[in-house]
Amino acid sequence: MQTVQEVKIRPVKPDDIEQISLLEQASFNDPYPSYFLSELARHNPDTFLVLTLNNEIVGYGIVDHWEDHDHLISIAVRPDSRRKGFGDTLLVELEKRVSKERLLRLEVRQSNLAAIQLYSKRGFTKTGMVEGYYADGEDAIVMEKRLVKETLVES
Ligand SMILES: CC(C)(COP(=O)(O)OP(=O)(O)OC[C@H]1O[C@@H](n2cnc3c(N)ncnc32)[C@H](O)[C@@H]1OP(=O)(O)O)[C@@H](O)C(=O)NCCC(=O)NCCS
Repeated sequence: MQTVQEVKIRPVKPDDIEQISLLEQASFNDPYPSYFLSELARHNPDTFLVLTLNNEIVGYGIVDHWEDHDHLISIAVRPDSRRKGFGDTLLVELEKRVSKERLLRLEVRQSNLAAIQLYSKRGFTKTGMVEGYYADGEDAIVMEKRLVKETLVES
């Protein structure tokens, strides 16, 4: 008999930070420290989301509200749960929760083809480069998406 997998997306809770920190360490060479993740959670109660599989956190995504745009700070899926659509699902849910009048911007390592593919698939376009953006000297690609309000079509 096949087990039913229960996938949920919900706002982060203070108790999640430890698990998110482990996921961050498994996903990045230069992970954010847990105090910074806690600050982001405090500032973004609606746009710091976790994705759970059978109540275990396997992904998270964070959008922070900057002065002139919204910024996708981080998104990651646990290595053993990748390529199952969870990254895409998180990004779609984050997009629903940010203001439709604002630009959504992010930086991504130029070698990070998986993430670049994900963002391109969701309609982000490359708008710039930042030389030596990362601590190890790698350049960042800047990508942006202008969200549009869904309009009701009257028949
Ligand atoms: C980037 C990341 C979040 C994608 O999460 P995921 O759950 O594996 O992605 P999904 O299964 O939802 O895939 C969505 C799309 O992303 C692209 N994609 C994801 N992984 C890919 C890979 N390894 N190679 C190429 N394209 C990939 C594909 O376009 C895919 O669509 P498709 O399945 O129709 O081909 C995940 O690889 C990750 O956590 N990486 C480490 C952290 C990271 O680099 N975050 C981004 C920081 S800028």
